[in-house]
Amino acid sequence: MEPYRIKVVEPIPITTREYRERVYAAGGYNQFNLTANDVTIDLLSDSGTGALSAEQQAAGMRGDETYAGARSFFRFRDVAEELTGYQHIFPVHQGRAAERILFSALLKPGQISISNTHFDTTRANAEIVGGVVRDLPCPAAKDLDSEEPFKGDIDLVALEEALAGPDDVGLVIMTITNNGGGGQPVSMANLEAASALCRKHGVPFFLDAARFAENAWLVTQREAKYRDHSPRDVAKLAFRLADGCVVSLKKDGIVHIGGMLALNDTELAKRCELLLIATEGFSTYGGLSGRDLDMCAQGMIEVTNPLYLRERAEATAYLAECARQAGVDSVRPAGVHAVYLNAGRLLPHIPPQRFTGHALASELYLAGGVRCAELGSLYLGEIDDSGELITPAPFELVRLAIPRRVYTRSHLEYVAETLAGIAKNPEQVPGYRLVEAPAMLRPFRCRLEQV
Ligand code: F0G
Repeated sequence: MEPYRIKVVEPIPITTREYRERVYAAGGYNQFNLTANDVTIDLLSDSGTGALSAEQQAAGMRGDETYAGARSFFRFRDVAEELTGYQHIFPVHQGRAAERILFSALLKPGQISISNTHFDTTRANAEIVGGVVRDLPCPAAKDLDSEEPFKGDIDLVALEEALAGPDDVGLVIMTITNNGGGGQPVSMANLEAASALCRKHGVPFFLDAARFAENAWLVTQREAKYRDHSPRDVAKLAFRLADGCVVSLKKDGIVHIGGMLALNDTELAKRCELLLIATEGFSTYGGLSGRDLDMCAQGMIEVTNPLYLRERAEATAYLAECARQAGVDSVRPAGVHAVYLNAGRLLPHIPPQRFTGHALASELYLAGGVRCAELGSLYLGEIDDSGELITPAPFELVRLAIPRRVYTRSHLEYVAETLAGIAKNPEQVPGYRLVEAPAMLRPFRCRLEQV
């Protein structure tokens, strides 16, 4: 059960199918055009959507809004230092700000950034400074159904080759857990080996640690050597294998806004600090208010509570299992922050050219007011100027991201029931065609119609 009880509640909109059909069509069948009032259960993102604890709210009240040297910063720094062990701690307004600063300061044009899988903003920030990104997911990641425990790992053979080869590798950044790769965890053994390879070749090794606590939890559950460790100890060890990290605290900081860049290299830290001051804010607030800093500090403490992590992991696994029993498969084994539904398998009558993943995501909204994100050809495929798909994505997935401490099991059961209803008559689900597709950031601004 949840190791907390509910003290503040917020009504959620209960709408009819007719209403949803009207507003969804008016928004060009794009879930980003829905408003909060249109959505019953919002599984679009687990980022910045969590519920604050009473202690976080109290910490927020203590927030010190001094421009430079606020007490809130030192509380933030002390917690971050204890957790990560890094010498230089910079607050930023969210994860992508840390990425932008790090890549601007570290990656030279033409240099390569290697990852198990770059998250989209990480990829974009590397490319904006002229870097070249390379994803090296482990071979097990390609099999959605395999029960391999660490499908978020990097391919160590490929990594070694890349580091030994003629290319100029600027950094290696490991995403824990691997959001772009089905929310799968990275093992400590893999992190250790990748870290050792980077040390050997003199290449900086960083973590994109947005879900550091969830990764640590899965390590305690799946990696024998760490069975008796606490998730906090595992997280601490993971940070200490790297030279630094970028963190979106909107995930495992359980805050609505906040992030962090932390690292050991003093010369690099100096370059980052200048960029921070020029673009985010002075080094002791980095674009956050004092109350944000205090809530981040408290969130970074609460998030490694094993009771909280166990319940969250079990709730996600429960949703995946309910969906499976209803005939809807997802990427296995279940991770923590999201369930990645295999839309391609459920809707074989809809080809990727008619956006299979988007079709399932749309039906979840139309049938139950459940909002989620497509991770298939609409998002990742190559599309020509007329809106036709040229190269499909490798899989047609739909991500049900679970906000932290927000929905109860009965909400998740409602989602599973909605899915079960769809799975009874999957052939009734229509496909979609693009009618408007901007050249960049397609999923956010495109419009579609049913076919
Ligand atoms: N890294 C990872 C692994 C992420 O999942 C995200 C955000 C970021 C970096 C960027 O952090 O949003 O604070 O700037 N992921 C959100 C999601 C948007 O829904 O998965 P940010």
